[in-house]
Parts: sequence; structure tokens; C-alpha cells
Amino acid sequence: MTDHRSAHTAAAAVAVEKALGKLDLDTKAGLLSGQDVWTLPAVPEIGLRSLVMSDGPVGVRGQGWGAADPSVALPSPTALAATWDPELARRAGRLLAQEARRKGVHVLLAPTVNLHRSPLGGRHFECFSEDPYLTGVIGAGYVAGVQDGGVGATVKHFVGNDAETERFTVDNRIAPRPLRELYLAPFEHIVQTARPWAVMTAYNQVNGVTMTEHRELVDGVLRGEWGFDGANVSDWTAARDTVRALRGGLDIAMPGPHTVFGAPLAAAVRDGRVAEDEVDDAVRRVLLLAARTGCLEGAPAAVAPADVPQDIDGRALAREIARRAFVLVRNEPVVRDEPAVRDEPAVRDEPTPETAPAPTPPRALPLTPRPLRKLAVIGAAAKDARVLGGGSATVFPERIVSPLEGLRAALPDTEVTFSAGADPRTKVPHARAGFELCARYYGADGALLAEQPQFDGKVQAMGRFPDGVTQHNLHTVELAGTFTPQAGGAHTFAVSGTGELRLTVGGRVLFDAPCAPDTDDPFEAFMNPAEHRVAAELTAGQTLDVALRFVPRGTALGADLPVLTFALGHAEPQLDPDAGIEEAVRAAAGADAVVVVVATTEETESEGFDRTGLALPGRQDELVSRVAAANPYTVVVVNAGSPVEMPWREEVPAVLLGWFPGQEAGAALADVLLGTHEPGGRLPTTWPARLADAPVTQVTPAGGRIAYEEGVFIGYRAWQRRAREEAGPAPAYPFGHGLGYTDWSYESLEATPARARVRVRNTGTRPGREVVQVYLAPLDRVAGPAPADRPDRWLAGFATVEAAPGETAEAEIALPRRAFEIWDEAAGARRFVDGTYAIEAARSVTDRRLAAQVTVA
Ligand code: BGC
Repeated sequence: MTDHRSAHTAAAAVAVEKALGKLDLDTKAGLLSGQDVWTLPAVPEIGLRSLVMSDGPVGVRGQGWGAADPSVALPSPTALAATWDPELARRAGRLLAQEARRKGVHVLLAPTVNLHRSPLGGRHFECFSEDPYLTGVIGAGYVAGVQDGGVGATVKHFVGNDAETERFTVDNRIAPRPLRELYLAPFEHIVQTARPWAVMTAYNQVNGVTMTEHRELVDGVLRGEWGFDGANVSDWTAARDTVRALRGGLDIAMPGPHTVFGAPLAAAVRDGRVAEDEVDDAVRRVLLLAARTGCLEGAPAAVAPADVPQDIDGRALAREIARRAFVLVRNEPVVRDEPAVRDEPAVRDEPTPETAPAPTPPRALPLTPRPLRKLAVIGAAAKDARVLGGGSATVFPERIVSPLEGLRAALPDTEVTFSAGADPRTKVPHARAGFELCARYYGADGALLAEQPQFDGKVQAMGRFPDGVTQHNLHTVELAGTFTPQAGGAHTFAVSGTGELRLTVGGRVLFDAPCAPDTDDPFEAFMNPAEHRVAAELTAGQTLDVALRFVPRGTALGADLPVLTFALGHAEPQLDPDAGIEEAVRAAAGADAVVVVVATTEETESEGFDRTGLALPGRQDELVSRVAAANPYTVVVVNAGSPVEMPWREEVPAVLLGWFPGQEAGAALADVLLGTHEPGGRLPTTWPARLADAPVTQVTPAGGRIAYEEGVFIGYRAWQRRAREEAGPAPAYPFGHGLGYTDWSYESLEATPARARVRVRNTGTRPGREVVQVYLAPLDRVAGPAPADRPDRWLAGFATVEAAPGETAEAEIALPRRAFEIWDEAAGARRFVDGTYAIEAARSVTDRRLAAQVTVA
């Protein structure tokens, strides 16, 4: 591998120099600037093809932004991290490379490795963890997998994009130690182990300098200290100044066609503000990226076509990752005839010997009622699951298996009923069930330019219109077709889009008006245009013509960009929420067991804004409590990308965290609930009981700034310190926690400073997989910072083992030297801290089973 890589680098370097020598200044400057939203210009004279980029991270959207070009949708990054399995992340990356190649994409804009500093961070679902080590190793697996497939990975957002409020301008004030030990650490690990071909610099500032101009962190740290040799691409519209961006180490300004590079950069060279040599350095890196991805003739691609992994089954992999990601945080026996089930406190802060015998009666999961004649499935998300997060991470899945469909398919002999309860969505879902729709694009003279069948009522394009359509010839789009209502009564329709909208249903005009955005964030306006509702009385089974005519008006994303978004929403006649909850309670009472799916919505968890609370939206908490009171065999599945409050968690025997589970959601859920597979996940982030308990809740800048005052104390590092110093609150579930379907005893631990060997025994009755975690806890400090300045312990390594009932397995865990180091602010360098440490083998950060001491000097 290494030989091939260095041979490739040498051959590529020769080809790059040759190509560079043939380029004039204007072409070079043009190569550093997007020619449109997703691509760089081709230069046929030197055999350079146009480089195509696309988001990530759960799938590859491609150049379109719509259902016409569907993608495999894997579970959310939080889910991938919950597998604690870098090899599985690598397999995910390989599948994404396969998807990229299928769609003509050379560079994937992922993974996102910012940290879970606060659970309020809007893009929390898109990042991996609160822990830099776990983030780094999962991210490195992902990058290696994408690049195994010959596609470039873009590690983002470098650095400090840990929240969304004022994201374009916020100045995050981060002291050197937390910057190095936390926020830069995953980037460093990934750059040094997986050698990504690209990095994306963030919108925000760090310590007063915007990241697309941050010479100290880009040229100094990323390239200088860590040896990053790839290309640095700006986040979309993040590059603001020609000279400062080039000097700050930026190579590519996106999106085009008008950026601070291109013509403005050529002009800056001509009038002496920058030297042509500086432009050449950036062009070299772009040409190297092209060479690596097979876009530069005469340069061998980094991965020979014969070595590219092929024929990966996307559906099977999406299902496997989802199963492995589900975190079973609670699984107690079902207690009949009692209103509430009590359990052991989930959090123990002292190591406890393993004593728990196999419990009787059986725990709620896997679902075991005999017979299982009737299963009540409850919650709007059970039918319409949120399988992926919003914003730029959106892809259009090739299919979605809902929890309801998955359970019905797996339980052919059981009556599986559905009740929505109280729908938490505040927006009307896009029209789908009962609709046959097609989008037609017209010129100003009424000529038909293009026609595309629609998967649902959302018509969106960013960067590319259907063939035959341009931003210059497009005048009107009509979404038209038929609708056959399943139920009679008052149906709700919703229209959204920036422009003129006219909705006709069954020949009646229901809406006809111009509509303007309701936000200043142009991406937000594009992603979530304001919605306008109308109602219509319809008859069940009677097919009607439906047409939504849209005349777009300019968006703030720029008149030159081919962008378009408008949508038709639809909701069937609904019970009012009180009646909906009553109906769900009745269904629960009459069933042998109940599965309730609760969820966040697009409005509560997405890109472009932060969360304002962790409560489940709508009346879902009430729904769970009422249903649990009606049937003690109630299992709750949480469909959210990041933590939510679960005030009812001790009222139900089992709680399964399902994240945004990807397109195979329901199939994977059935596998786990029915016990053909155990849920394999462990929490990659602490799950607070209440927002008020979370250590970091400040995500809104004050005067344009956020001071990261907590220093190195985020996530479990902060929870542990508070538990020690103030007897502060315990979280609902700690970092690393997660139950399978068997039990484990930790039998022995041998440790040196370089490695730990842990023997565990499967003491349960089923085969299982265990994530053996190793934490490092400083016991004294000979030469380190004062105890109060160091976390009590931190994750130093982990490994996954499997064992049959009664069998033992050994986990061999290498402990990186880095685990013993701190960033010494006075010296401006890393320093190994001598002293005595406990090496702890654990099931979670609070469930520590064995400890050994090592002294390092
Ligand atoms: C996001 C990036 C994304 C880019 C292109 C930005 O708004 O922050 O993560 O890659 O858009 O869609």
C-alpha cells in the first residue's frame, strides 16, 4: 500500500509539474474557482477533466438536488460512531465511493469531524462524537474507505464549526490547549493515518481570523506540522477576500461561477498583490487532487481501476450499520399490573464487580410475548421515519423501509396496527401517498424544456437543472399529476417556494400568490422555504387532477446559480391531537406489546440553526406516558440524530436509540426488536436527562463571539468533573453505554503503557459482541498540570470482541503515546506527562470493571 502510494505520488508529481508548465495565468486562476455549484473547469489542452464534488456524509447526492437521481442513504454519522467500529466505517466509505463513481463524482464533501461540544449544536447528527479519539478513528476509517474506492474525501469543517448560529461570521475563541487536545485532534489523527486528499475550511473564525484565511492553522499546523498534502476547499461561499484567502492557504473557492479566485485572482497577480508562485502552489494541489482521482491524463490514479472495490450491496450495508448502531440504553423485565417499572440507576460511578446473574423474568427486548397476536405500532415517525438529517447532508434515498413496514414484513402472522398518536411535525410532509406527479419545465414562450417524474412533492435543484433547462431559459415549472385520496374529509395542502405559486386541485384554484423567504440565511431559505396551507374537502377514492405552478424569483444564493426549490405538501384528514392520543392508548391497551417511535423533526434538528431545547417536539412525551400506562409492554424507539430529553424513560421497560437510521430503518429495527440480531451500539456522546444539566449550552454568540470557556471540559470530561467537584447531576445515560442481548463479565486486565489486554466472558445465553473500552485516569501528576486542569479520565482505546455463551474473548488494545500527552501552552508543544495512571477496562465511562496501574517516566 505504502509503496504503491509513494510510487503514485512520485509519478503524479511529475505529471502535475508537466501540466502546470503548460498553463497560463488566467487558466490557473480559473482552476481554483468553481465553474458552477459543484465542479471545477476542465482544461482539455492538458488532459484535465472537470472535477466534480458532492455532499456527503450519509450518501452521495450527485450534481442534482432531487429525487430524479436517488442515492443509497446510510445511517447518520452519530449512528456510524455508535458502532465504535472503524472497519465498518471503512466499509461505509467504500460503498460511498461506489455511489460517487456511479454518479460521476470525484470528491466527496465528508466526513464532518467537528465535535459534540453542546447537544444544542444543530449539525450534531452530522458529526460523530464528543470525544476526539473516537471521532478521529471513525473518521479515519471513513476516509480510508472512500479513498480505497479512488474517490477523494474532504474532512470538514476545519475547524471549530461546532454550532450553527451566526455560522458565517462567529468568532470562536478557543485557547490553545482545547484547540489542540479536542477540536484539532480528530483532523490531526485523520490526516496522519488516512491521508485525506482534501479538507474543507469552515465558515467561522477561530481567534479572530476567518478559517478560509487562517494561515497559522492551515499552512502552519495542517500542512506544516501534520504534513497534509491535499487540497483545501472553502465551505460554500466561505471565501471572502482574494489575497487573504490565497495567503491563508486556500486552494479552491466554491461555489462558482463568481468567487474571489478566478478573474479576481489573475488581476491580483497582474497588479502585484500576490506572486504567481503562490497561485502555482495552489494549482499544484488541485492538479494532484485531479491526478489522484483519475482526472488528469498521463498521471496514474491513486487507486488502479482493478483495485476499486466493486458490487457492494448498499441495502445490506445500510441495514447492517443501522443494527450495529442502535443503542439499547434500557432493557428491563416487563412488570404487569404495576403502573411503573423501577430500574437500577443506569449510572454507577464506581467500578463494580460483575455479579449480575441472567435475569428472570426475561427483559422486554427482544420482543417475546407469547403469543404475539397483536402488536401496536404508535407514532407518526413509525410510518414516516426521519431516516436522515436535513441541510446539505440531504440525499434522496432510493427507497425507505419505515418501522411499520419493517415490522409488518417480519411478522406476517401478527396483526400489526398503526396509530399516529399526536403528529409532532409542524410542517406538512411532502405529497407522496396517493400522488402520481411529474415536473415540467417551461420557457417564457411556453415551450416545454424538460420533464421529470417526481418521487414526491418537492422539486429541488442546486447546481444543475434537468438537461435542456438553464437559469436563463427557465420561466415556469409545473408539478402536475393526479391524487387519489385514501380517506374522505378535510385534506391539508401546503405550498412553499420563493416566487409565484398557484395550486389547482380538481379544477379549483386553492392558492395563487407571490411568496417571499422568511429568513436571512440564503441556504435556510433554499432548504426550508416558508409554507402556506390550504384545506380542501375531498372524497375517498375519487381521483383528481393536481397542479402546482411555480414562477421562481431570484434567491439570495445568486442570480448565476442554477437553484430551484418549491414543494407541494399534503396531509390526510387528521384526528385532533387529543383524539389521536386516545386512539393510540386504546390500540396499546388491546395489544400484546407496543412499539412507540418518537422523533425530532426537520424544524428541530437540521443545518443552519441550532436547537433551542432537547424536548421532543409536540405531545410525544405525553403520548409515551399515556401509552405506557395502558400497556406495560411498551418499547420506545427514539428516532433522533442527537440527544433528546426522555422524561418517561423509567416508565417503560425498554428504550432503543435509533438515530437517523438510513433507508433500511424499518428492516434493521425489526431485526433488532425481534432478536435476530442484537443492537450493537454504544453511546458516542453523553445523553443528558435534561438540557439544564448539560455542561455546555452556550451556542449563541454574544457580540459575534463564543468563548469556549469550558476549556477541555466538554462531554464526559465535564460530566465527570462535575460529579466529583459539585456532586452534580448524572446524565440519563453515560458515554460508552449500551446493552446487547447478553451479559458480560470482565475477568482480567493486563496493562503496560503501550497496551491493555482484557479478557471478558459472555455470561448470558446468546452469542454477543462487546465493545471493550479502555480509559486512562491520571492518579498523580509528577510534572503535569494541576489535577483540576485534567479530566478524571479519557478514552484511550477500545476493541470489539465476540463470544458465544459461556465463552471468553480477549481484546488487545494498543494505547497511543498521545493518550499520555497534553498540549503545553507555555511551551507551545505537546508534552508527555510522567506519573502514575490507572488503566481501566470498562463498559462505559461510568461502568468501569477492572483497573491496573502503570507508571510512566
Ligand atoms: C455546508 C457544507 C457543505 C456545503 C455544500 C455548506 O453549507 O456547511 O458542509 O458541504 O454547504 O453543500
